[in-house]
Amino acid sequence: MSMPQPNVTGRASLVGAGPGDPELLTVKALRRIESADVLLYDKLVDPRILDLAPAHARRIDVGKRCGRHTLSQAAINRLIVAHAQAGAHVVRLKGGDPMVFGRAGEELAALAAAGVVAEVVPGITVACAAAASMAMPLTQRGYSRSLHLITGHGADDRVPTHDWNALAACDGTIAIYMGGRTLGQVTQRLLAAGLDPSTPAIAIENATLATERRLPGTVADIAALVAAAAVSGPTLVLVGRVVALRRQDAVESAMNEVRSRAA
Ligand SMILES: C[S@@+](CC[C@H](N)C(=O)[O-])C[C@H]1O[C@@H](n2cnc3c(N)ncnc32)[C@H](O)[C@@H]1O
Repeated sequence: MSMPQPNVTGRASLVGAGPGDPELLTVKALRRIESADVLLYDKLVDPRILDLAPAHARRIDVGKRCGRHTLSQAAINRLIVAHAQAGAHVVRLKGGDPMVFGRAGEELAALAAAGVVAEVVPGITVACAAAASMAMPLTQRGYSRSLHLITGHGADDRVPTHDWNALAACDGTIAIYMGGRTLGQVTQRLLAAGLDPSTPAIAIENATLATERRLPGTVADIAALVAAAAVSGPTLVLVGRVVALRRQDAVESAMNEVRSRAA
């Protein structure tokens, strides 16, 4: 079987842009963005991050958010391949980490099939960033020994199939990505599987941005709280006993005190 020959002129970098705050980019991500000829980006990538690309870089909005996109995944794959084969350094910028609910695997497969050299630059996934912004551990001795990243978005807008019994029984931390439309059903499934209704939960909208909003509750009422708050930005929901350990208020008031002493 003949293997596709590597295309040595162009290349592709699948880069994690992190959760929003440009300061949460990795140094490697910044370097790749600064050397981009073509930037293909999703809706969730902050405009301040796009501004870090050189003026000559072509910016292409592929419009992806919450698993929906204006271009099909196949069309995005073709665009990355075509620009790389034309000799460009293509930077495919994705919110958070490219390998977490980012369809990076499909893009890597398309690039490999076309013989285009590709690399992956990790980014901070939203679960880690949201927890950090609230000074909340995702795992903690005596509280949670596992972290489960699940999607609430299945095919045809339905709740995906997860092992709800295992999730309810693990006494770990559950991070629900893309739960916008299905959060009520996801929490119902967890409750039906035996998760204690008083288990703390919190929804974080626009984590790490100036517009960040936090809605604390329990697994039993978090879906109603989110619906009542008319959440419109990207939102992550964290469920687990560790949610009660968040210390954002204490951390923020201590930071304010340090700042006012320094001023
Ligand atoms: C397609 S997934 C991409 C996840 C991304 N690759 C990551 O590692 O964070 C998009 C989902 O991530 C969550 N999300 C992304 N950015 C967010 C933010 N700044 N605040 C809260 N949730 C966010 C939302 O649940 C959104 O529906």
